[in-house]
Amino acid sequence: MDGSPLTVARVESEYSVETGADIIFYYPLRNEPNFFLNLAPANGQAPSESNPGAWGVRGGIGTNGSIVAYSAICQHLGCPAPAISYYPPGTCSQTFNTGPPSPNSSPKQPFYTHCSCHGSTYDPVHSAANLTGPAVLPLPQVVLETDANGNIYAVGENGPPVNGHLNTLTGGYGVGSTVPLAKETPVILCSFPA
Ligand code: FES
Repeated sequence: MDGSPLTVARVESEYSVETGADIIFYYPLRNEPNFFLNLAPANGQAPSESNPGAWGVRGGIGTNGSIVAYSAICQHLGCPAPAISYYPPGTCSQTFNTGPPSPNSSPKQPFYTHCSCHGSTYDPVHSAANLTGPAVLPLPQVVLETDANGNIYAVGENGPPVNGHLNTLTGGYGVGSTVPLAKETPVILCSFPA
C-alpha cells in the first residue's frame, strides 16, 4: 500500500473477490490485525454460480454492499494472519453450501477465510460464521463507515470478542494504530476438517 486513504472508489476499482489481496489493518487495538475485503466479482456483474462473489453482505459497504472487514485472529487458538488468510476462488477445490445466501451471492461458495493452523474455515459472506472447525465462534466483524468523500473508517466491532480477550477492549495496549495498511502473503493449506 502507498499510504494514501482507502476510499470506496479505490477499493472497488482495485480489489475484488478474485484479487486475494489481503489488506491488513489493526483495530481496535494496535496489535490486532483484520482482513479488509471486497467480495464483489471482478467483472462488475451480479454474483452467480458461475461468477463467484457477493453483494449485499451483512455489514458490507460500497455500491453493492460488498466491502467488509473481519478479525484476522483465528477464534480457535488465536493464529493470526497470514496463518489465517482469505482464499479467493480457485485457491482450493473445496466449495461450501452456505445456506440462505445474501441477496446476491454464489450458492456454492469457492471463497472463504481459512486457518492453516488446524483447519478452521469461516464464511466472509455470512458474518464470518464457521464452515469447518475446530473453531466454534465466528470471526469478529469490524463495523465500517464512510465519510462524504468516500474515505473508509473502522468504527466498531460486531460478533464475539477478539480471540483471547474478555471483551474487545480488554487485553491490548492502546486504541487505534500507527501501523500502515499492509498486504500479507497467505499461508495456503487446503485442509478442511469435516
Ligand atoms: S488456531 Fe486456527 S484452526 Fe486452530
